[in-house]
Amino acid sequence: MVMDSSKHADCFDGFQGEFKSFATDAIHVGQEPEQWNSMAVVPPISLSTTFKQFGPGNHTGFEYSRSGNPTRNCLEKAVAALDGAKYCLAFASGLAATTTITHLLKAGDGIVCMNDVYGGTNRYFRRIAAENGLDISFADCTQHDVLKAALKANTKLLWIETPTNPTMKVVDIQTCSEIAHEYNKDIVVVVDNTFMSAYFQRPLALGADICMYSATKYMNGHSDVVMGLVSVIREDLHERLRFLQNAIGAVPSPFDCYLCNRGLKTLHLRMRQHFRSALTVAKFLEADERVDRVIFPGLPSHPQYELVKRQCTGCPGMITFYIKGKLENASTFLSNLKLFALAESLGGYESLAEHPAIMTHASVPENERAALGISDTLVRLSVGLEDVEDIVADVDQALRAAHAEKN
Ligand SMILES: Cc1ncc(COP(=O)(O)O)c(C=O)c1O
Repeated sequence: MVMDSSKHADCFDGFQGEFKSFATDAIHVGQEPEQWNSMAVVPPISLSTTFKQFGPGNHTGFEYSRSGNPTRNCLEKAVAALDGAKYCLAFASGLAATTTITHLLKAGDGIVCMNDVYGGTNRYFRRIAAENGLDISFADCTQHDVLKAALKANTKLLWIETPTNPTMKVVDIQTCSEIAHEYNKDIVVVVDNTFMSAYFQRPLALGADICMYSATKYMNGHSDVVMGLVSVIREDLHERLRFLQNAIGAVPSPFDCYLCNRGLKTLHLRMRQHFRSALTVAKFLEADERVDRVIFPGLPSHPQYELVKRQCTGCPGMITFYIKGKLENASTFLSNLKLFALAESLGGYESLAEHPAIMTHASVPENERAALGISDTLVRLSVGLEDVEDIVADVDQALRAAHAEKN
């Protein structure tokens, strides 16, 4: 990492410096015009499902589009560079990536999962992987003794999400990877890096074995692609995952690969602005009497602010906050937003807002939601790239509608 704080002295002070040549790699790695006879500067969308061979088994490296596709290759090479990885594999969705990674295990093997993760990850582990014979347990990995106690002889996978969705707990990737690997060097440590994106956090450099994404979010960044990405350094993991990618077959379309590859070209610019705008919105909310508590990893009030600055190069546009009052106040706030769309998902150029307890995390059992703090008054914002004054004005007017008595 190379510190270049002069460029963004505003909110990036104290954070890890940008990863070296990030923007250059995003724009050029895997995109070389020389790989095409046409010398196309922008990688073409290769729709052919099959590729002609010179003789049986004698081909250009492509046989059938599920096992390898030229447009997908361009995307995978670019993402590998951005993650400081050797290899990347693209999947049809973030959950397809999760499913494929889980196929590294066999019945009887154990998974220890951070206790606060995306609702769909929780549902997949609990309702599908567990029923197929995997031993799933959940642990608060921010408490290192809790993690140590959760590791067992059959543990083969440690699944971390940081910051967590939606309560923004931050997990120390390096320490957790060390704990897992000291217990058993063969435990595969996976970090779901969806919230941070490759621009703000590099899990593989911190000791994780696999970095995965729902690329549906920041990595693509335009809310028009559902996709998953998995990056690794280890040859053995790459070989097995490449086999599983083809054998299970949950691959993305060439068109989606083209779009995601295009989205990556502006990832650095988008993430910088997401951070700036989100910090402005978080500070506005924190100072507002209609709000109980704001959770934003880029605010000094975040309990793990020091860890965030050590581990990350900045923070994305995700804010959660507890509105004062009860469900009715949260619902009125959300239904009165005009610029923000009330919608699931996050990480696009447009601002989105949602109610985790009713929407994204409805599949998490109620008692667990309560334990995690996913209450009726919790609201999640994905701060987009609109003019920040307009974003703040929208939040302000919706808060006014939700708390008419305070106006
Ligand atoms: C943190 C996180 N991981 C994984 C997923 C699943 O990804 P996808 O919706 O692309 O299948 C999501 C989706 O919201 C997510 O937020």
